[in-house]
Amino acid sequence: MTVLAHLSDLHLDGTEETAGRARRAVSHLTGLPGTIDAVLVTGDIADHGSEAEYEQAREVLAPLYARCPVLLCPGNHDSRPEYRKVLADDGGGTAPVNEARAVGPDGVRVLMCDSSVPGRPEGLLAPETLEWLDEELAAAPDRPAFVAFHHPPVPLGLPYIDRIGLRGPDGLAKVLAGHPQVVAVLCGHAHTAAATVFAGRPLLCAPGIVSSALMPWEQGPDASWKTTQAPPALAFHLYEEGRLTTHVRAV
Ligand SMILES: [Fe+2]
Repeated sequence: MTVLAHLSDLHLDGTEETAGRARRAVSHLTGLPGTIDAVLVTGDIADHGSEAEYEQAREVLAPLYARCPVLLCPGNHDSRPEYRKVLADDGGGTAPVNEARAVGPDGVRVLMCDSSVPGRPEGLLAPETLEWLDEELAAAPDRPAFVAFHHPPVPLGLPYIDRIGLRGPDGLAKVLAGHPQVVAVLCGHAHTAAATVFAGRPLLCAPGIVSSALMPWEQGPDASWKTTQAPPALAFHLYEEGRLTTHVRAV
């Protein structure tokens, strides 16, 4: 069995309030008696994309790095140069930050794609990212794979988020159609746990660490689309014998 913990949207901004919510998730995971094969963080790690925010991320996430692989991808609040400088020194300059890792006893692959568009809130998987993803999947057709990125490629019924979702999802659907080993697509951005389907695969969005998004029927006319009243939460994805099961925990 492979166990993947999935966090998203830390939005670290230098304040202790935001860091404290991320620390709650980190200490929940590091305090578990059992094994986690990897922790995935699907973007919006920083709130403004500054180097200082990534330094804070490194400090907050350090206990996780000491325990298991930590897999990251950027979101719309992240900034590639600063992100790269502190968290992912891959020499990629301003190109999308894409990374493939194998985790767990069965070498399940996690393909982290960069769906951020510099200076824009909406997302896009650039042609070079789709090409990279297609090649990575073609290179290991028998290995189960998760495709992870920040912006969900379908509307979720959350108007604020749906307006800034992934543009051009057909390109991704076309890539996935050629690779049946893709178990699921894992996203963030929604700030609420959500499960739907994309290109015939489960599409699972992690809840938000910094805040929880509210559905239209949960908010009054003047209320914010999100609340910090709800606790931070994370998902556990279990993969075993071809079957994916997801559990969500408030921490
Ligand atoms: Fe976010």
